[in-house]
Amino acid sequence: MRLLEEKILSDGEAISKEVLKVDAFLNHQIDSKLMFEIGKEFAKLFANEEITKIVTIESSGIAPAVMTGLQLNVPVIFARKQKSLTLNEALLTTSVHSFTKNVTNNISISKKYLNDNDKILIIDDFLANGQAALGLVDLIHQANATVVGIGILIEKSFQSGAQKLKDLGLRVESLARIESLENGVVNFISEKVEELI
Ligand code: G4P
Repeated sequence: MRLLEEKILSDGEAISKEVLKVDAFLNHQIDSKLMFEIGKEFAKLFANEEITKIVTIESSGIAPAVMTGLQLNVPVIFARKQKSLTLNEALLTTSVHSFTKNVTNNISISKKYLNDNDKILIIDDFLANGQAALGLVDLIHQANATVVGIGILIEKSFQSGAQKLKDLGLRVESLARIESLENGVVNFISEKVEELI
């Protein structure tokens, strides 16, 4: 998605070979108009899938997930990383290890918000090693619901997540795909080059 790539180039910062800082429009300050356009793009990509709900994980997945939910006219559920005072009913739970942050979180969704006839679109901000997405897939499968696809804003294609998810037969749509972050320069995978392969 050209708009997102342009925003990454103008306001993002490659702070190492592995990490892209996007606090200016996604992880801290949020560009609401960009999120609105992203919601429209995901809604277009998954228009024929009869999605019933969107699932994401707190916190940075929530903004693009809500914008997509608005376009598709479906509810959005975010998995929680911490126990909530009011989340006291039966829970679906799994653990997610972040290699980037070297922490393991137990993530949960209340059983009452997912059921076996749901067709779910997962939305998240980053796809690195795929642990968050795999954790969400696990929660959805625990509810016997179907994962229709995974919408990602920024895929770091040099890490293993996208391939892991595709190997499971899941449809992954990433709006920006980063080939490398070497020397502070963001290189995207060019769609034209890919078409030739
Ligand atoms: P994975 O789920 O694909 O395996 O990713 P990983 O565990 O490595 O990432 C854990 C957290 O770090 C996630 O945020 C993810 O969005 C974020 N992250 C991964 N790579 C990058 C990157 O290059 N830049 C930025 N800015 N974030 C990255 P989180 O802990 O869930 O935080 P948040 O959603 O509350 O912001």
